Amino acid sequence: MTQKTALVTGAGGFIGHHLADYLVKKGRHVRGVDIKHPEYAPTAAHEFEVLDLRSEKNCEIATAGVDEIYHLAADMGGIGYITSSRAPITLHNTLINVNMIKAARENGAKRFLFSSSACVYPQYLQTKPDVTPLREDDAFPADPEEGYGLEKLYMEKMCQYFSEDWGFPTRVVRFHNVYGPLGTYDGGREKAPAAISRKIAGIPDGGTIEIWGDGQQTRSFMHVEDCIEGIYRIMQSDYDKPLNLGTDELVTIDQLVDMVAEVAGKRVVKRHDVSRPQGVRGRNSDNSRLREVLGWEPRIMLREGIVPTYRWIAEMVAGESKRPATQQAAE
Ligand code: NAD
Ligand code: GDD
Repeated sequence: MTQKTALVTGAGGFIGHHLADYLVKKGRHVRGVDIKHPEYAPTAAHEFEVLDLRSEKNCEIATAGVDEIYHLAADMGGIGYITSSRAPITLHNTLINVNMIKAARENGAKRFLFSSSACVYPQYLQTKPDVTPLREDDAFPADPEEGYGLEKLYMEKMCQYFSEDWGFPTRVVRFHNVYGPLGTYDGGREKAPAAISRKIAGIPDGGTIEIWGDGQQTRSFMHVEDCIEGIYRIMQSDYDKPLNLGTDELVTIDQLVDMVAEVAGKRVVKRHDVSRPQGVRGRNSDNSRLREVLGWEPRIMLREGIVPTYRWIAEMVAGESKRPATQQAAE
């Protein structure tokens, strides 16, 4: 059997980096593409191209001669970033997504997986901490997260139309908040697990950290290893409609902070700031359809997954503080 070639877009980023390494282990010939090289560790991808996928021409280059496309490249971040950058996010992701799916079809890709988000779900269903878990069919009538969520929902529909009208095989995966080693942990795009880990890593025992909101808002968090396995399984499946990929372990942000503090072995004083971005009040994944389709669902509990995540971030933070002050100032 000839070796399949897989393209991973966004392979310089968090999930794409892990996915490229996983696909190499699965025996694929892997081409990674991103606008930047991976920041924290080398990639195992056989080829790595630095390309700006907002360009139609670059999408044609990236998709030439590949069988499977795992399309993860996006302008994205945690709630602080996505609420303050709606114009650039919508502009960049629209260009990336339209050009990628068009080039993928024209170049004859056999399968195209789009990384969508739980941000497509209506805000009116996410107003309470004890939220009802979100089912795939809940996405309409639509009221997604402004900018980022709306653009993801539009691209989901484009995948559906390409599949229905032109027989182009697509897969659509709605990730719920993903965390783990090699994820962005500073700079403004970081999500809550990484931000809280970084803050706790930076204080002494008994120190104070700032938490956005009153700490009672809820989320479910998925470890990146579950995310990668789920992506792979969904790509191999015959299911071409949107699927949730997340855990259904609902926790408050304060509970997340307590878990990280326990893993860090530190007592932490919480200072809540309700003037900071908070997003929806509660969000959880209903995994019924995922279980039906795959007979599988993410299984790493948050307390377990936080251990390697916190350790990696604490090492990164310690490494930064050990660099000479002159070098840090120059960066
Ligand atoms: P990430 O920011 O670490 O990775 C995205 C990558 O896309 C980055 O490396 C970035 O450089 C690259 N990129 C941005 N613009 C580009 C361009 N013009 N050309 C080429 N590459 C470009 O984010 P991630 O967490 O790895 O997310 C991967 C995908 O999963 C994204 O589509 C994101 O929207 C989606 N998603 C992630 C989460 C999560 O919790 N991490 C949740 C829902 C959806
Ligand atoms: N980022 C961040 N940083 N969030 C914090 C912090 C902090 O220091 N402290 C508390 N929070 C709270 C936020 O106010 C929010 O209520 C909650 O933690 C979760 O924030 P994020 O992890 O930033 O994002 P999100 O869950 O609202 O949305 C994320 O997940 C979606 C998929 O489920 C984003 O990354 C989206 O881009 C993604 O699509």
